[in-house]
Amino acid sequence: MDLRKENILLVDDDIDILELLQRHLKSMNYHTYKAVSVKEALFILKDTFIDLLITDIQMPEIDGLQLLKYTNEHYPEMPKLVVTGYPSVDGVLNVIKSGAIDYLTKPFTKDELKQSIEKAFAHKIKRLNKTPKTERLKNNLYADMVGESEAFHKVINIIDRVKDNKATVLIKGESGTGKELVARAIHYSGKFSRAPFIAVNCGAIPENLQEAELFGYLKGAFTGANENRNGFFQAAQGGTLFLDEIGTASLAVQTKLLRALQEKEITKVGSQKVEKVDIRIVAATNANLLEDIKNKSFREDLYYRLTVVEINVPPLRERKSDIPLLVEKFLRKYGVEYKDRLLGIAPEALQILERYDWPGNIRELENSIQRAVIMSDGLVDVKDLPDFLKFQIDTTNKGFTTLRQMEKEYVQRVLAHTQGNKSKAAEILQIDRKTLRDKLD
Ligand SMILES: Nc1ncnc2c1ncn2[C@@H]1O[C@H](COP(=O)(O)OP(=O)(O)OP(=O)(O)O)[C@@H](O)[C@H]1O
Ligand SMILES: [Mg+2]
Repeated sequence: MDLRKENILLVDDDIDILELLQRHLKSMNYHTYKAVSVKEALFILKDTFIDLLITDIQMPEIDGLQLLKYTNEHYPEMPKLVVTGYPSVDGVLNVIKSGAIDYLTKPFTKDELKQSIEKAFAHKIKRLNKTPKTERLKNNLYADMVGESEAFHKVINIIDRVKDNKATVLIKGESGTGKELVARAIHYSGKFSRAPFIAVNCGAIPENLQEAELFGYLKGAFTGANENRNGFFQAAQGGTLFLDEIGTASLAVQTKLLRALQEKEITKVGSQKVEKVDIRIVAATNANLLEDIKNKSFREDLYYRLTVVEINVPPLRERKSDIPLLVEKFLRKYGVEYKDRLLGIAPEALQILERYDWPGNIRELENSIQRAVIMSDGLVDVKDLPDFLKFQIDTTNKGFTTLRQMEKEYVQRVLAHTQGNKSKAAEILQIDRKTLRDKLD
């Protein structure tokens, strides 16, 4: 008799569907992992051996078809099932072509779900798995983080101390330093890793919806609340709720968060009923919350509740000894993705990467390598690097460029870093927006 519980990954942007699926699957004795987006699903796939993928098709940002395409390439033996609310739109043909074994139309019964799952597993057994599971199950601690600097080891050391308890953690660091990765590492390397990890970017939710999204709401609580809905707190029950850009949480949300942390209970918007929650909160910020406390946009009492454990992720320029390992990792990742093989890098090119200060931190380094891999024809060389990096050696080696040219490239770089946000760029450059506009003209 096989006592092993199969791991099933559920991907749907609708939390209610996720919970319904999870309930059904639990009663059938499967282990479940939940992801509210494809991005989230990819993180779980990277760290966990998944026996079956069940995914929605229509999702914001990256859709289910792309997830199927990706998993067909990278996890060809993993059976895939599709649940769709719009069978005619998504097209049966597309779904079958995408490599999914079967599809279920919402709403479905528990029996229909059960049959599809059994069909999927039967299909897999027929295909006879050649690679032994242990070989594919390379236990990847710390969610793929690499580094060897002292600063990096300090971070790993704290992750180790918090991963198995539910102490609240506040992660501080500049943009692109790896704060989200640290949050995932805490969750997925610890003993609650089988419970959900739910990532919420507070900055991406309009202020007037933050409370409802986080804590849930009752039908009729406000215009547009057409049904009862659970929030992210319930979705994360037993696991980790990652609150990114916590500095952008509204004051109303801050008050409720404080209560959730102190009393471990929440109330839905429009409800009086108190509900117990058992989750670990990991928050992150690249803003100076102490400043925000001074100008009264962040609650001081909440700040101290959040910083039970504080993790400072240092900027890349303060841990340049991590650069070679990071470069190697990104070369492998993008080499396989774009060129179907592992790529090397010329020593001169690596030297340039190690010399640069990386204001956009690891994300900027990663983007540069991604670009270089696309441009290269074999070995990544100086010529494949983005202009702003090549230009660095131009000044040290051969002729100098003009100040104007340098200014232009620099402004463009800052703008790329702020993703085109001119106010932010002006702030970094310490010039007013009008001056920036003039320069852009
Ligand atoms: N130690 C590391 N090893 C490998 N990759 C890393 C490491 N740290 C960060 N990365 C990668 O760098 C990128 C940026 O990391 P992440 O999104 O976690 O940064 P962040 O601090 O949350 O940034 P932001 O403040 O802009 O949201 C990601 O693609 C992540 O996988
Ligand atoms: Mg982030």
